[in-house]
Amino acid sequence: MRPTLVVGNWKMNGSKAVAESLCKSIIAGLSADDTGIAVCVPYVYLADAAALTQGTPLAVGAQNVADQASGAYTGEVSAAMLKEFNCEFALVGHSERRSYYGDSNASVAARFEQAIAQGLTPILCIGETLEQREQDQTFSVIDEQLDAVIDKVGIEAFKQAVIAYEPVWAIGTGKTASDEQAQEVHKYIRERIAQKNLEIAGRLQILYGGSVKPDNAKGLFAMPDIDGGLIGGASLDAEGFLKIYRAA
Ligand code: 13P
Repeated sequence: MRPTLVVGNWKMNGSKAVAESLCKSIIAGLSADDTGIAVCVPYVYLADAAALTQGTPLAVGAQNVADQASGAYTGEVSAAMLKEFNCEFALVGHSERRSYYGDSNASVAARFEQAIAQGLTPILCIGETLEQREQDQTFSVIDEQLDAVIDKVGIEAFKQAVIAYEPVWAIGTGKTASDEQAQEVHKYIRERIAQKNLEIAGRLQILYGGSVKPDNAKGLFAMPDIDGGLIGGASLDAEGFLKIYRAA
């Protein structure tokens, strides 16, 4: 059995006060032996989140990481900087980054590599748009997004990584993939990794993301290749987020 992981992605929401109160309310709902729960907060709240979560079961992550180690890259934040704030995770290749900010497969692979180099666990987000699904391109899109990273960093790097399957058509739309639809793609991803390394594939946590809510989490998480979730909107409510966590 793989350990489960539930990660909140707050995106560009909240305020300093909201970030603090969300962290505190989530921590209040956890007990010392809980594991496998994290929040990816906006960069500017990382220091607060690091202080509030220290010594608690709640882990912290960033929503992106630079594709370079340091230097003249205005507006970027390096993996080493994130480590200074006790970041454990960094999302890479979220579909909003890919579609609104031009994060290409090559740039996502470089970000993934930077995260690994600093001992962060990258959460590699992959998934197809509605148009791609309707044109039967789901698996070829997954192949491209996955292979770009594997080709750059090698399969061994996935020992210290997480994948999140997030169908773009299910993000923020209230339209979740069915349990079976999600499982089909998760199984495909695991098999593709297994072609390179069976052991890594068996241990790799593959999270589902896209309109996960307290009432649909249990069904999704019961699927054999779904190891938890990457939660957007529903992670902005501590009680709902904790319910989703308990469903895993
Ligand atoms: P929603 O849960 O709001 O659909 O967002 C999913 C997501 O993008 C998490 O990264």
